[in-house]
Amino acid sequence: MEESFQATEHRLRAAPATWLVTGAAGFIGSHLAETLVGLGQRVVALDNFATGYRHNIEAAEQACAAGGELRFVEGDIRSLEDCRQAVAGVDYVLHQAALGSVPRSLEDPLLTNAVNIDGFVNVLVAARDAGVRRVVYAASSSTYGDHPGLPKVEDSIGKPLSPYAVTKYVNELYADVFSRAYGMELIGLRYFNVFGPRQDPQGAYAAVIPRWFGEMVDGKSCRINGDGETSRDFCFIDNVVQANLLAAMVNDPAAVDQVYNVAFGGRTTLNELFYTIRDLLAEHRPELAQAQPQYDDFREGDVRHSQADIGKAASLLGYRPAFDVSAGLARTAEWFESRSKR
Ligand SMILES: NC(=O)c1ccc[n+]([C@@H]2O[C@H](COP(=O)([O-])OP(=O)(O)OC[C@H]3O[C@@H](n4cnc5c(N)ncnc54)[C@H](O)[C@@H]3O)[C@@H](O)[C@H]2O)c1
Repeated sequence: MEESFQATEHRLRAAPATWLVTGAAGFIGSHLAETLVGLGQRVVALDNFATGYRHNIEAAEQACAAGGELRFVEGDIRSLEDCRQAVAGVDYVLHQAALGSVPRSLEDPLLTNAVNIDGFVNVLVAARDAGVRRVVYAASSSTYGDHPGLPKVEDSIGKPLSPYAVTKYVNELYADVFSRAYGMELIGLRYFNVFGPRQDPQGAYAAVIPRWFGEMVDGKSCRINGDGETSRDFCFIDNVVQANLLAAMVNDPAAVDQVYNVAFGGRTTLNELFYTIRDLLAEHRPELAQAQPQYDDFREGDVRHSQADIGKAASLLGYRPAFDVSAGLARTAEWFESRSKR
């Protein structure tokens, strides 16, 4: 029987546990660490700063005032020894460390493979040997590949369209084998286009939402690949945190050793996204009120539409995304505004 997120939070506060968050200096990992510490948990945070930042951990450090504990371990998941050190004494693992980005994986498939597959297996072996209760790991909507169905349901996937997508699918295969072979409890969360505060706006591999926020704040123009009618199921970070904690704590045996879509369950076009971000920022920056995007060619390999069916996470985990895209973008705009004043 599913329980509400509030009940899960209550359970956590009542009986604090020890958690390993890998990729904790990154966007999603830093929010998981901050929330857990705020709930009075003991958190081991592992990262090698490949794409994450030391300052991303500050919010979790400050949240320790609520009674939780944070221990940062600088280490690389490609090292089994680093994984063993980080996982010692841990109850739950929330595995986020990976190299994201489809274009990055096309440019350097060896590196993406080493981190996302070898690193993943290291985390699983270390977790198995340390006797952790459960591993929840970041899977990806890219696993749907070229499957045309909409909305996406967990059982129907297509062929992967990039090395990155291969690595995330291989993670699911390994998780399934480790649960059968070693009796481990594993849950994969297929994230769909997550966004929110602390997502990196910089660099060639930045995701569209932080990139556009960053460009608009800097007075630069934004580019859209294609006609802007490409759509995605953008999901605010707080919904992703909720899904992770529910997955770690769910008691129903039928809910374990599964993969779940984690999204809002809607569809937003790039044009809608651009104008929503522009109008939010224009509240404090009137010069942006008439800004328009520039349209480029379609980018090869991009799927036209993506949208999740979140029914499985709703029924088995009790997942109820609390933020829609507009509410999430408003929070994200506040963060970019406060960051630009620093
Ligand atoms: N953001 C999204 O929309 C999205 C969508 C689908 C899946 N995911 C997955 O979610 C996870 C987190 O993504 P994110 O958006 O927070 O990215 P991020 O780049 O902000 O965070 C990833 C973190 O992992 C760390 N890392 C990378 N290689 C490492 C290594 N070898 N050892 C230790 N740490 C390492 C990085 O330094 C970084 O801090 C990833 O597994 C990603 O593939 C994200």
